Amino acid sequence: MERKYPHLTSPITVAGVTFRNRMFSAPMGGTDITNDGCIGPKSTAFYELRSKGGAGAVTVSECMVHESDGSHAYRLNPAILNSLACATYTADAIRRHGGMPSLELSHSGMFAGTYMTDKTKQKTMKQWGPMDTVRPDGVEVQGMTKDMIDEIVKSYGDVAAMAKRAGFEMIMIHGGHGWLINQFLSPLFNQRTDEYGGSLENRCRLAKEILTSVREAVG
Ligand SMILES: Cc1cc2nc3c(=O)[nH]c(=O)nc-3n(C[C@H](O)[C@H](O)[C@H](O)COP(=O)(O)O)c2cc1C
Repeated sequence: MERKYPHLTSPITVAGVTFRNRMFSAPMGGTDITNDGCIGPKSTAFYELRSKGGAGAVTVSECMVHESDGSHAYRLNPAILNSLACATYTADAIRRHGGMPSLELSHSGMFAGTYMTDKTKQKTMKQWGPMDTVRPDGVEVQGMTKDMIDEIVKSYGDVAAMAKRAGFEMIMIHGGHGWLINQFLSPLFNQRTDEYGGSLENRCRLAKEILTSVREAVG
């Protein structure tokens, strides 16, 4: 019988990392995030189980790269030693069953705080997006300056380098679901008149700069 996906269960090596098969567990965020942005024990157990179940790679979801995103989410912040310890522990929990630990990097941009458990806090947060605007829920958004963009691009690289040190072998960059990169790609949310807005090439610029920053940081 001809198999539809004959290579699905065979190993594959990508950029020096060998995955035991080609089935990768998609990022799924847990809600037991500690106040200092650490991955909670239930989430770690969830990711560990995906690896135990046989996934070739397991992606830990949505680590926020910069403090301008005040969402209640994971962080890798050298000032918070515990955040590095928890990430290292989670990467190890995945790896000990043979799956490759992967970390998703994100910035929520103008929709930061969407998942806040305390919705009143959400209204007092400063929001940063491609443009000055007011969100449908009445929250004011400030357009990012070039300096702010540069800082965020750098922070993707900085956090990727920390993830590597914590034992992650793969980085997933969140470009969807309406978050920051997606906001810049969108001609609806991004009507900037500088080199980050207008043409498709300009709207892709932030994504490309982030990819370059991460690649330079992880080698
Ligand atoms: C509970 C849950 C949490 C999720 N969290 C994230 C997330 O943090 N980041 C992300 O990129 N996708 C997230 N997703 C989307 C999944 O990674 C995946 O893209 C989506 O479920 C579609 O894949 P599927 O058709 O195999 O379910 C989540 C999905 C679920 C069900």
